[in-house]
Amino acid sequence: MKGSTRPFDPGRLLYGGDWNPDQWPREVWLEDIDLMQEARVNTVTVCPFSWASLEPAEGRYEFGWLDDALELLTRAGIGFFLATPTASPPPWFTLAHPDALPVTADGVRLRHGSRDTYAIAAPSYRSACRRMARSLAERYGLHPGLRGWHVHNEYGTIDYGPYAERGFRSWLKQKYATLDELNAAWGTAFWSQRYGSWDEILPPVATQYLPNPGLVVDFRRYSSDEMRSACLEQIAQLRSAGSHAPVTTNFMLPDWNNLEQWSWADGLDVVSLDHYLDSATAEAEAHVAYGSDLARSWSNGPWILMEQNATQIKLDGRALPKEPERTIRDSLGYIARGSQSCMFFQWRASTAGAEQWHSGMVPHVGKDTEGFRTIVHLGEILERLEEVHLPPADGPVVKADVAIVWHADGWWALETPDLPSSDITYRGELRAIHRALRALGIVTDFIAPCACLESYRLLVVPCLYPMDERTAAWIESFARSGGTVVVTYLSGLADSAMRILPGGYPGRLRDLLGISSQSLRPLQPGTQLILRSELGPDLEVTDWTEHVRLNTAQAVYSFLTGPLTGSPAITRATVGAGTAWYISTHLTQSSEQALWNLILRDTGIDPTIVGAAPLGVEAVVRRSRDADFLFLMHDGDVDVDVTAPGPDLISGNDYSKGGLLAAGSCAVIRIAPDAATAVSISAHKP
Ligand code: GAL
Repeated sequence: MKGSTRPFDPGRLLYGGDWNPDQWPREVWLEDIDLMQEARVNTVTVCPFSWASLEPAEGRYEFGWLDDALELLTRAGIGFFLATPTASPPPWFTLAHPDALPVTADGVRLRHGSRDTYAIAAPSYRSACRRMARSLAERYGLHPGLRGWHVHNEYGTIDYGPYAERGFRSWLKQKYATLDELNAAWGTAFWSQRYGSWDEILPPVATQYLPNPGLVVDFRRYSSDEMRSACLEQIAQLRSAGSHAPVTTNFMLPDWNNLEQWSWADGLDVVSLDHYLDSATAEAEAHVAYGSDLARSWSNGPWILMEQNATQIKLDGRALPKEPERTIRDSLGYIARGSQSCMFFQWRASTAGAEQWHSGMVPHVGKDTEGFRTIVHLGEILERLEEVHLPPADGPVVKADVAIVWHADGWWALETPDLPSSDITYRGELRAIHRALRALGIVTDFIAPCACLESYRLLVVPCLYPMDERTAAWIESFARSGGTVVVTYLSGLADSAMRILPGGYPGRLRDLLGISSQSLRPLQPGTQLILRSELGPDLEVTDWTEHVRLNTAQAVYSFLTGPLTGSPAITRATVGAGTAWYISTHLTQSSEQALWNLILRDTGIDPTIVGAAPLGVEAVVRRSRDADFLFLMHDGDVDVDVTAPGPDLISGNDYSKGGLLAAGSCAVIRIAPDAATAVSISAHKP
């Protein structure tokens, strides 16, 4: 899967954050090193945005300050990821190369003044990036403190300018070979859009009315591939300069997605993720689990948490406090699910610049704060988790029975305009399913279409709107050989060129599912309907319904209310030795959970620890070389009694005869391979 075939093992859990010495006077560097040692920080990410300090004028490099900063770190025993600072070209660069500035879909050429302002396909930008990567690798590629390369920062700027136009056309030539193929794939006969020459094709720039959906999705695929080539070019420079340190680039998990992560992961030694909470309620922990499961799956094993919020959560224009217990719980949550690190943005909160109100491990106020005390406490905890980072000799770092299909195509397709409903988002549907499974105590992997399914019992296919024949065959063969497949609405409606497959929805999957939808019937906002079954509780649905006709499937739930009363809404078909479910409607979150409870019972899949999740205790087993580690993160309200065969590495408590785990707190219990006592968790009895 990845550039390196060995799981990423940095030799310890990495702890620290972004450190930007060029933004501070030298006396602050000295204080930083003292405070890092106090907090047991062992790794920082250096200089993701320091291009202007490293190359203040074209071809004039100033590495002296970085030599000194790295020397200070190394003397203190602190390692570093060295970033290539190419996400933020300096003003001199864009004045010298105005053609390397990005153009928006509306035709506005952006100017410098912020960050990420580059036209990814501009030759001058690309060669400047290669030069920068090469210079850094030649100087620091064998540095003893170098833990890895952090290429660029959060690739993601989409350019619609002349270089993108040119790049898009050659990408399309590669893909379609002939214009006839392309015209057929995009259906350009509609609205007289037939292309008679490759030069007539434009990116999806502002136009009078709706653009072509096939073109829109292809442009997003192209943009991801173009950014990936830029990243691979930098990696080639690092390698040819003789540096063999692990390479990563940090993915983001925001409300937008401009990368196709599986193909990117192939070129990296390890995947890293920047994860910013989008809630300050218990939903935050569900989000931690979701981000971690994605990162572990993309990385095909251990991964790096490169950034998380430090002492605040930025939300809807407010900087809310991140409570100490949440900081500890979430940091352990990432590690439980395979992270080899606990890193923050950033080490010291900035006092100037655009992000002066983003928090740091060292807040503006200084070390005598609850925020910094939490960072020190977290450092102590992480030092106690000595063996956790050791990759298991074989098998996955976290074992999952359930795999959820993830592909950027699904995300991009649901963002094309004029679908039957604009209320449904790819991320919304995937998160709802993941949240429900987590609340039932189930750990999930995400999986690329057509990847190996050997270790899974249940395959979930949510909202994968474009689907090729190979993917449909892969899903079907999993069911035929005894697996359980659960497909949701808005999957398999179109081919990968975004052409609808006629003859009853979802064209690609209706034979497998044993149904045919006669019409798609999105609901008005605010409408809620009820489903009923003999097998489970009533369910509530909103936003989306379909008129489903049964072929070989049976109805599990039917509509109790609304215009489709009596019609099937959730179906189940026997396929070879397995089962295929179809969820044709959008469930409210509590109903989603109730349905998954039923599907899990039907499939015979049990939670990691029976009884933990209903009490608010998230239980995840991380496998390591010599033992398993049971992580318990308690976000519930009631203290619990725990019995488990081993010591809690955080408190030192031996849980083999039972002990208390207070609401809000965490335990990491080392379970030896031959442990006999079963784990049990129940509400505390005083
Ligand atoms: C990240 C980025 C950091 C910082 C942080 C807080 O996405 O990598 O440099 O900007 O967000 O906004």
